[in-house]
Amino acid sequence: MRIEMPRYMERFGAIKFYDIQRVLELSGGRTSGFGGEVPGTINISSSDLEEIEANMTIIIPVKNENPKILEGVLSGVPHDAFVIVVSNSRREPIDRYRIELDTLFQFYRLTRRPILAVHQKDPILAEALKEAGYTYIIGEDGLVKDGKGEGMIVGLLLAKYLKRKYVGFIDSDNYIPGAVNEYVHIYAAGFYMAKSPFAMVRIKWPYKTKFVGKRFYFRRRGRVSEITNRYMNMLVASITKFETDIIKTSNAGEHALTIDLADRIGYSSGFSIEPYQIVYLLEEYSGLKHPRFPEVMKDTIEIFQIEPRNPHIHEEREESHIPEMIKQSLSTIYHSSLADEFIKKRIRDELISRKALAPDEPIPEPVKYPPLYGVNPNKLLKVLSESSDTLVIKDE
Ligand code: GDD
Repeated sequence: MRIEMPRYMERFGAIKFYDIQRVLELSGGRTSGFGGEVPGTINISSSDLEEIEANMTIIIPVKNENPKILEGVLSGVPHDAFVIVVSNSRREPIDRYRIELDTLFQFYRLTRRPILAVHQKDPILAEALKEAGYTYIIGEDGLVKDGKGEGMIVGLLLAKYLKRKYVGFIDSDNYIPGAVNEYVHIYAAGFYMAKSPFAMVRIKWPYKTKFVGKRFYFRRRGRVSEITNRYMNMLVASITKFETDIIKTSNAGEHALTIDLADRIGYSSGFSIEPYQIVYLLEEYSGLKHPRFPEVMKDTIEIFQIEPRNPHIHEEREESHIPEMIKQSLSTIYHSSLADEFIKKRIRDELISRKALAPDEPIPEPVKYPPLYGVNPNKLLKVLSESSDTLVIKDE
């Protein structure tokens, strides 16, 4: 895979935020290296990508998706990555998780891909989390809470158990297996470039593709991400006193990180999880306070933002989903200790004008979860494998 070298970078304390890099060739030839025959580019050979992918876990959060689309997503994940499926699908009147497992079993039978799956609402999962010492995502009913963010955290804890160095996320509603394949290669390419053990790769879709009338329409900007990016960059400017547009992936559902970094950042609920990762990084590692993990400050955090070639075509939710996503995303910025009154007022006005908030309504604070560092994943797996009837592990 040949991609542009990072041309521009902004640094805030320990954080290095690289500007967008585009994929130039999906397959760039056998020789890996910076520049070389084509200055300004870097090529990562298939064998180098595969080596990193063999050390990667891919987490797929699922909630009531079409099993055919899930099967397509699975087919796109490169063979050597270990797939973890965390499902929050309905189990009644039809057991959709059972249908998903049938898809996974068949896929395993035909490909011998390593797979691990669990249901988010499995009561034993909540017990196992208590045993492992991470109870924060358990709700009042004693089960893990609903939410994509909560599902991702379950996936991360399971990924810690697998002890692979890298972990990435892929949504389960992606219609294009080739896009999934490219995203995972991009993750591997980012980690190939990274010099720090604390690295993150965030996908910036070039277009969000919709079928309109008789043809595709390629929209350049996402409805939610454009707004979140604007305020996230304002938050950065409030620290640096220089306006910027460096952050272009605030809502990147598709992203990957080293387990070392995944252990040392905070998380939040539902769809606020991706912007909150950045808010947390800025609060903790931009040099404004003594962080909980000083080893990160001594090193750097490298964040790559990479633009793929494939169009992003996924299940379209109802329009009503959008204001809620915007509210969840902006609440992470609004409630940041770095946000000044100017940003707060702008966010309130934005949410009210988009009818995401009533004029007299307070902006709800995102539910935050602490880093995963110190949680014992072996205890989690011990309880699950002894008593869970939703846990499935298929590994040769
Ligand atoms: N395990 C689990 N639990 N998975 C969930 C849950 C849940 O409660 N809710 C949703 N999912 C899964 C869906 O099945 C899908 O695979 C993925 O999470 C994303 O959910 P969508 O509802 O399809 O979100 P979206 O497509 O509107 O938004 C996506 O893109 C945004 C960027 O524009 C998400 O990835 C967002 O997080 C992202 O910000």
